[in-house]
Formats: sequence, structure tokens, C-alpha cells
Amino acid sequence: MHFPMHFPPNPIGSSNPTRGQPLQRRHFIRLVGGGVVSAMAAAGTVGLSGCAPTMPPEAIEAWAGPGAVVGAATDVRRWLLGYAILAPHSHNLQSWVADLGTPGQITLYCDLKRLLPQTDPLSRQIMMSHGTFLELLDIAARERGLRADIELFPQGRFGPATLDTRPVATVRLTPDSSVAKDPLFAQILRRHTNRNSYDLARPVPAAAWDAMAGAAAVGLQGARVGFAGVEQGASVLAAHRRIARDAWRIELTVPRTIMESFDVLRVGQSEIATHRDGVSLTAPMVVAMDRLGLFDRSQAPAPDSYATTSQIKAFDAKLESTPGFWWLVTPGNDRVTQVNAGRAYVRAQLAATAQGLAMHPLSQALQEYVEQQQTYADIHTLAGATAPGETVQMWARVGYAAAVEPAPRRRLQDFIRA
Ligand SMILES: Cc1cc2nc3c(=O)[nH]c(=O)nc-3n(C[C@H](O)[C@H](O)[C@H](O)COP(=O)(O)O)c2cc1C
Repeated sequence: MHFPMHFPPNPIGSSNPTRGQPLQRRHFIRLVGGGVVSAMAAAGTVGLSGCAPTMPPEAIEAWAGPGAVVGAATDVRRWLLGYAILAPHSHNLQSWVADLGTPGQITLYCDLKRLLPQTDPLSRQIMMSHGTFLELLDIAARERGLRADIELFPQGRFGPATLDTRPVATVRLTPDSSVAKDPLFAQILRRHTNRNSYDLARPVPAAAWDAMAGAAAVGLQGARVGFAGVEQGASVLAAHRRIARDAWRIELTVPRTIMESFDVLRVGQSEIATHRDGVSLTAPMVVAMDRLGLFDRSQAPAPDSYATTSQIKAFDAKLESTPGFWWLVTPGNDRVTQVNAGRAYVRAQLAATAQGLAMHPLSQALQEYVEQQQTYADIHTLAGATAPGETVQMWARVGYAAAVEPAPRRRLQDFIRA
């Protein structure tokens, strides 16, 4: 069917160089001595939901925009990058490296130490995460009257399985009075991935689906978006929820994939402030246990442990609260397509933000590791992506929700190779 041909064999162990540091979506905790507690059950980990802000201010300073960044006033490229680094990136790994060695140009590379070999073995999501970056760069350039001529893979495309040290893109910047500003620019500082529960009683309006589709369609050659809301009927929504739930359970119970998430988990203000990437846990109870040495991130919880079952339950509740699902299908799955899919996704999310809507990607069933083969096939069938090569690049839940805090970003200078 879709991927058995391309799926790498079940890898043993983890080669993730970020190992021993932090991630993002599955937050559970094993207590030394065998007890477990769900971090997400303990408190809201990423949601504001009326609580006081919990992120260390320096970790989220990028969300004030690049105005105050040293050099942003003199070199417009730094100003543009100040927006681009706010792009969504899988596991918030921020694998972007910007080379400013050529005047008037930004050359984008991938930091090969920031990959997810277990859950994203073909680095498809990493390439999408470079597309999100390039799209925000382009939108920001327009705001400054600059035309951004983006050449993808100027030294050749990466192969289908691995990335290498060649550039992802060159971006030539040229003043051009004919360049149109993009209204989505106003949403860049407001866009956040929102993992809260959504308001099931508030369906996504047809005009909002249209706005998201229209935004994503820019530059989307041959691709298509789809959505399912209450109008499509309860059984369709139930089918989406079922696949998302099954895929989540798989990711939680396959030791190497859950450990990859543990590796990028940042617990408490000081870890978050040190790393400024990955998945942040700020719930006071979790942080307190971590300080007491009661948080063991060195091994995967058992599938039937409370840590695992409570996560599945919490995720189920979020799925049940979700009034709409959105997806993006491309006719192929080469590296250029993946980058362009990322560009389309962030445009859709910016459009959703403008509509007051929250989005939360559901990548688990789209991931190319053997244990997800059935859910991968199921979501492709449900999304109508059944022609040879058709690939669901993004699948997300959509709805109205309480606001969340911004996710950390590293310092602008950390992304720049002079
Ligand atoms: C290709 C891609 C896949 C993603 N998949 C997931 C996902 O499965 N679950 C999730 O909670 N967030 C997912 N995200 C969102 C990232 O975790 C998020 O962008 C990152 O943590 C930074 O947060 P922000 O989007 O609020 O700036 C994905 C983002 C991208 C670009």
C-alpha cells in the first residue's frame, strides 16, 4: 500500500543525538520505586487556561518579535529570521541553521543533530519544518518590500531516506516594489500549537475552513486539503478520533518512540531556560518531583502502567472534544513536496489563527515506522489518499480553545552561521 516499501526496518536503540536532553507531546512520569503519575494529569503542561504564565521569560522572548534583537535594525536578514524561527517544528527541535556568508542571501541548512530518527525515520517532518520556516521568512520579506527568491536544494535533493550537509534552500532577497504584503504576517506572533481541549459545542464555521484552504493553496501544486466537521456527521468524526487514538497508543507503548519523546522533554523553568527547545513541562507538581529526584526519564513506562493509560485517557478526552479535523494530501512525497507541504501547513495555521481557531497536529498515524503501518493506511484511506504515491503530509485537529503560552525558542544568534 502506501509505505511498506519505504519503511525502514524496526530500528534498535536510538541514535538521536539530543538523547539525554529533552520533547513534546507525551508527558508522563515514572517515579523511582515504581509509582507513576501523569504529568498532564497533574496539571496543564502547555495550556495557560487562566493560570499565571509559567515559561521563563527569556525562553519566549522571541515572541516579542525581532525589533529588539541585536543586528536586526542593521541587517534585514536578522529581522526576517526573527520571524522565521517562530515557525512550527516537529517536537520543537528547531533544526534550522542560517548561513549569512553571502550578502543579500540566506542559505538554510538542517542541523543534523536535531532529527527524530525513531518517530520521523525518513525526516519527512523535518523537511516540512523547514518549509514552515521558509514560508514565514517569505511572508516577513514581503512585509519589508523584499522579494524572496527561494531555490530549494540548490546542490541537489536529499535522498528519500536521509538528510545530509547540503543546503535545504538559498533565499535571495531583492527589493521589489511589486511584492505584495501578506495579511498573514499579522498572525505570526499570535500562532501557537494548542494542545488544550477544544469546545465541542462550537463547530468550525464553513468560512473558516475556506480561509484555511485558501491560505494553504498558495503554491500548493497538485496538493489538496480536506476537512471534517460536524456537518460531515458523527461517524466521520468518530473515524478520525479512532485512528488518532490508536496511533497515539502505539507511540506511547513502543519503547523507542516514547523514549525519543522523553529525550526532548524539558522539565521546569531552569531546564526550559537552558535548552529553549523541545517539549516543556511546567506543572508545579511535576517540577517538584523532578527536583526531588522522583522523575525517572531513563526508561519507558509499561504499556499497562498508569503513566501510559492516563495519557491515553487524557488524549482521548481531547479528541472527543474536537469539533473538526483538517488534512493535507500531496500527490507525491519527494523532498520538494515535503518542504512545500510545510509551507502550506503553516499558512493554514496562520489563517486559522486569524479566525480565532486553534490547531494541533496529529502526526502519529503519519509516521513511517513499522508499528504505525495500519494507522498510516487507515488515515490515508479516510483522507481519500489512495492513488499511488499520494501522501497525507499533515493531519490536525481544529477548534476553539483557551489560549496557550508560546513555546520556547533559542536565541536568534544560535541559528546563525556567519
Ligand atoms: C511537521 C510537524 C509535525 C508536528 N506534529 C505534532 C504532533 O504530532 N503533535 C503535537 O502536539 N505537535 C506537533 N507539531 C507542533 C510542534 O510540536 C510545535 O510546532 C512546536 O512544539 C513549537 O510550538 P509552536 O507551534 O506553538 O510554536 C508538529 C509541527 C510540525 C511542523
